[in-house]
Amino acid sequence: MAKLAINVDHVATVRQARLGAEPDPVTAAALAELAGAQGIVVHLREDRRHIKDRDVELLRQTVKTRLNLEMAATKEMIDIALRIKPDLVTLVPEKRQELTTEGGLDVVAQESSLKEALRVLHDGGIAVSLFINPDPLHVETAQRVEADFVEIHTGTFADAKTLFRRQEEYDRIVAAVKLADELRLGVHAGHGIDYQNIFWLRNIAEIEEYSIGHAVIARAVLVGIERAVREMIALVNG
Ligand code: PXP
Repeated sequence: MAKLAINVDHVATVRQARLGAEPDPVTAAALAELAGAQGIVVHLREDRRHIKDRDVELLRQTVKTRLNLEMAATKEMIDIALRIKPDLVTLVPEKRQELTTEGGLDVVAQESSLKEALRVLHDGGIAVSLFINPDPLHVETAQRVEADFVEIHTGTFADAKTLFRRQEEYDRIVAAVKLADELRLGVHAGHGIDYQNIFWLRNIAEIEEYSIGHAVIARAVLVGIERAVREMIALVNG
């Protein structure tokens, strides 16, 4: 049985629209766990545009499943991870101007610095996943730098506009997942996974965990509107 980890960054994005306290991603994480999510994911970005240090600290105290901290491999973030000790760190590339993580880590170009980051995190007792494109060279490099897991970037697959392109990307994902599994890396998948394309990805038995944010939070807004409006109508007329 594959696991589902829920990324609650978007809840924090809504909170930051008013720079207030609600909705609290920590509460959303607790509700996701009550619904059966097997992990909680947050991306602490250098610019703190959504998730804040306070969120990660509280999540460390409250998450009962597994806390996966997505972050860039910078000294600042590594120090935070060593202090907070998430169950898993997923190293991702980060560009200030991007709307969301745009691609996998260039593990080939950064092999030696990633190896050092992994050594420091491992010395701190933290397991590490590398977010990589579905490319065999990147999978092999992830193994060489002693990653525990790879998270295969499914965004290009999710964005494919034609069935031909989608099939091509799917085939690349399958090959990368199988290679990672043969190399004894744990395999996660994430980015752009939604209520339609999961029908493809769930056929890949070696994927242990899906990391999903946008589709689930977007759906939560829509399926929650009716109840929220009814509750306010009751108050308006109370
Ligand atoms: N995995 C990684 C490494 C990510 O950066 C993100 C986006 O924050 C996700 C998974 C979740 O992607 P989405 O929000 O499209 O489901």
